[in-house]
Amino acid sequence: MAKKENLLLIIKFMITILFLLLHCFGFGVAVGSSEGGKGRWQLLLNNTGVVAMHMALTHHNAVIIFDQTGAGQSGYRLRRRYNGAKCRGTRDDLEDWSCYAHSVEYSISDNSIRPLRLDTDPWCSSAAFLSNGTLLQTGGYGSGSRRIRYFRPCKRSRCDWKQSKRALHDERWYSSTQILPENDRVMVVGGRGVFTYEFFPKPSSGDTSIDLPFLHHPNDRHSRGNNLYPFLHLVSDGNLFIFANRESILFNYRMNRVVKTFPRIPGDGARNYPSSGSSVILPLDYTNNFQNVEVMVCGGAASGAYRTAEQGRFLNGLRSCGRMVISGNRHKWNMENMPGPRLMNDMLILPTGQILIINGAKRGCAGYGKAASPSLQPYLYKPKQILGKRFSVLRATKIARMYHSSATLLPDGRILVAGGNPNNRYTFTNVTYPTELRLQAFVPPYMDEQYDTQRPANVSINYNNSTYGVTYGEKFSVQFLLARRPSNVVEFTAYAPPFTTHAVSMNQRMLKLRCRSLVRVEDGWMRANLEAPPSPNVAPPGYYMLTVVNGGIPSISQWVRFKPA
Ligand SMILES: *[C@@H]1O[C@H](CO)[C@@H](O)[C@H](O)[C@H]1NC(C)=O
Ligand SMILES: *[C@@H]1O[C@H](CO)[C@@H](O)[C@H](O)[C@H]1NC(C)=O
Ligand SMILES: *[C@@H]1O[C@H](CO)[C@@H](O)[C@H](O)[C@H]1NC(C)=O
Ligand SMILES: *[C@@H]1O[C@H](CO)[C@@H](O)[C@H](O)[C@H]1NC(C)=O
Ligand SMILES: *[C@@H]1O[C@H](CO)[C@@H](O)[C@H](O)[C@H]1NC(C)=O
Ligand SMILES: *[C@@H]1O[C@H](CO)[C@@H](O)[C@H](O)[C@H]1NC(C)=O
Repeated sequence: MAKKENLLLIIKFMITILFLLLHCFGFGVAVGSSEGGKGRWQLLLNNTGVVAMHMALTHHNAVIIFDQTGAGQSGYRLRRRYNGAKCRGTRDDLEDWSCYAHSVEYSISDNSIRPLRLDTDPWCSSAAFLSNGTLLQTGGYGSGSRRIRYFRPCKRSRCDWKQSKRALHDERWYSSTQILPENDRVMVVGGRGVFTYEFFPKPSSGDTSIDLPFLHHPNDRHSRGNNLYPFLHLVSDGNLFIFANRESILFNYRMNRVVKTFPRIPGDGARNYPSSGSSVILPLDYTNNFQNVEVMVCGGAASGAYRTAEQGRFLNGLRSCGRMVISGNRHKWNMENMPGPRLMNDMLILPTGQILIINGAKRGCAGYGKAASPSLQPYLYKPKQILGKRFSVLRATKIARMYHSSATLLPDGRILVAGGNPNNRYTFTNVTYPTELRLQAFVPPYMDEQYDTQRPANVSINYNNSTYGVTYGEKFSVQFLLARRPSNVVEFTAYAPPFTTHAVSMNQRMLKLRCRSLVRVEDGWMRANLEAPPSPNVAPPGYYMLTVVNGGIPSISQWVRFKPA
């Protein structure tokens, strides 16, 4: 009898192993489909001091937050001016922006902030993380509009902004930045009244900025642009997708050549600032060697919204999203509707590969006092569901997050939500929408306790050269604990954290990595052998958040660095 049981156990065990080996690469089922009103909101801090116009998560698990320096007295008063003189609260001090912080660093583990120092104004600027995790921030306003600043994250909170002695060629206010696959170089595109792009560092000394005729065409002068903060997405073939207003191109930046012009996105209205819709590149997948690239653009403002907003009439925003495959040769926008109209909406890729649409307004356009009816409910979008079943509405917040707000994904799976200033300065009274300094986190449904037994825990990444990271195509392994048998679908996602401002999440990117084998080692420990992405075109060098997703339930993410050999 005992022998028979043993045999049965052994057979069961072997079946399990076989099953695991086979289903390392699974078929997608996710958390139940009725997320109606699900998720939770946490109030983290009542006063961040500074409006989170711009936000970025560093690989030291801190979030860099900054505003414009010209916004006057922020909610974080400094004791000394940058020149060392004491700030005494005199009239002179009140007018000196260096008596106030305009940037802070938020520590996720301590739930605290510390002030940072900005020498010039990074208002409406752009940024990208370099391969070593340093944030390269470009442009801004006035004397800051050609500036280049670095933030090199560090462990013991001693780091601060450093201004480069080098400068951009053109003034870049409302431009976008893309990290390129090669040489730790960024490309900065557009800006107010600037229809060019440029590289930094410059490829060779005489290089200046290069005209991009594409940007002239969708420039809508009566609406203050509608081509600002263009959407940029790096395609796996090394070309760059550029979207402005309603138009888009595939651009070979190495040759300064438009490879193709995509069809115009259907429907009226516009998608870029100040119409301010949003876009993402949907998760890239190892099953097609990361070559199938699809973008999604959601929301924006109605035609004429800017002019009517100036008269205090706020038109309904756009409700539609368009999805288009930008790789291959067949391109068509597939349109679908969000549960409601929305603009100034942040779009974030969740560790599950689903898209979260959060923040923004239902009416108006971007700009001071130009929007109404805040969008309080996040939307969850499941790209792999059939049409009509992709959207669900999550739990509403009570706090309006409209102009100059932002959101970013945290390693523990929550979404940090901050900012909002639909006023010319820090204004807390006598306005419909006061300046918002409260810091919140949205806790998505996948973090509910009921899923804890499914949640992979204690994730650690093992690779040969831990100081320098994993090289392209290299194998590496991930260990984690799982209380129960794994579900049919265990996925491994790598996420490049964005620089987020004005509803644009620059350089946000997710890869579903190839898993070569998945085995149960002992006492609930699992080991997966994974393969790093094949090339920098697929995943530009840098720090990525690696998450183990078991049947739609994500672990806490760990940082992994991908680098050239
Ligand atoms: C924020 O302020 C409210 C009202 O004063 C208080 O009840 C709450 O505890 C504060 N929350 C935090 C996170 O400080
Ligand atoms: C990363 O590279 C930049 C640009 O070369 C440099 O300024 C910065 O100090 C480097 N950061 C680290 C952490 O090495
Ligand atoms: C409040 O705003 C209204 C309309 O903008 C203005 O007329 C009024 O003077 C303001 N009141 C105060 C106390 O600032
Ligand atoms: C898993 O992680 C938790 C918290 O990080 C720790 O307390 C626990 O000891 C770890 N478990 C194992 C088996 O390493
Ligand atoms: C790790 O990689 C760096 C840079 O590629 C190299 O200098 C170093 O020797 C490597 N270390 C090991 C242990 O392979
Ligand atoms: C580490 O390097 C060895 C020998 O070069 C190789 O066999 C092994 O697969 C590598 N391990 C990982 C985790 O990449």
